[in-house]
Amino acid sequence: MKFGRHGDFIAPEIDLHHEIMGLKKEKNAVILSHYYQRPEIQEVADFIGDSLALAQAAANTDADIIVFAGVHFMAETAKILNPTKKVLLPDLNAGCSLADSCPVADFEPFVKAHPEHFVVTYINCSAEIKALSDYVCTSSNALKIISDIPKTAPIIFAPDKNLGSYLIRETGRDMLLWDGSCLVHEAFCIDKLLDLCQKHPDAIIIAHPESEEHILKIANYIGSTSALIAYVKCHPDKKYIVATEVGILHEMQKEVPDTILIPAPAVEDNSCACSECAFMKTNTLQKTYRCLKDGTPEIEVPKAIAEKAWTPIERMLKLSK
Ligand code: 13P
Ligand code: SF4
Repeated sequence: MKFGRHGDFIAPEIDLHHEIMGLKKEKNAVILSHYYQRPEIQEVADFIGDSLALAQAAANTDADIIVFAGVHFMAETAKILNPTKKVLLPDLNAGCSLADSCPVADFEPFVKAHPEHFVVTYINCSAEIKALSDYVCTSSNALKIISDIPKTAPIIFAPDKNLGSYLIRETGRDMLLWDGSCLVHEAFCIDKLLDLCQKHPDAIIIAHPESEEHILKIANYIGSTSALIAYVKCHPDKKYIVATEVGILHEMQKEVPDTILIPAPAVEDNSCACSECAFMKTNTLQKTYRCLKDGTPEIEVPKAIAEKAWTPIERMLKLSK
């Protein structure tokens, strides 16, 4: 028996994919999906992308309803960009360890204590944190955003210390890093990865910059989820070890069907021995169907916060055109 979010029965004969496609038309709704979503959700999406592409798609949509198949901070960003539209998240428990690592009660005094610093926040944070920022960035535009800040100005970068350290190495800028991280990208095991490289000496390691320095040091290419897919697409004749959330392999493999893609190994206590984001996987096709049908759960952002958070998000979108 299948049950919906509130325990309501979904008849087993219902073709959820077909029903969702019909509901999207009927309600003028669009489904935006991140690459880390379950494959069956990606298959009903109108648009699949990385955090930047999804924010751009949210900013440009004509739909009345946005179903955000991703995590809370992404849906919040879509709402900030579309205050009059209905933004739905299939499961409100779809959070993010990185966003959770930066509570506003701690971040606000930190920012106030460094008034001479420009504040750049990675999009993986709450609307309250964005409201305290000068710029928002994603992994695909962080270098461009940093280059917009006067060369000698000091910068606070939050919440991801791994992406922040990578940016310091790349730019040599004076940056104060918040001590946050993504538990999925910190789960990669360097020893297992080196063993895997010995078994596949011809494989190229590609990694997301949320990964730790020892992983990035041995990576042949570093980029956002979209950039990793684009890289593989450009060089389909190689074999890859992919160090980011394993959900990316669905779209990546579709782009390069004949290429061998191996997920980077995670630490022992990870039951699937690969890196799965439990938050991203909280959304299911059943919950996507229910939320589209019932118009809930809806994302709301208090007006005062949304207005303040809009400025650094908009600044990022302008710089990313
Ligand atoms: P991008 O989609 O920007 O590459 O970020 C990955 C991620 O961790 C999203 O939560
Ligand atoms: Fe957050 Fe990491 Fe999951 Fe992305 S993969 S949503 S950064 S916990």
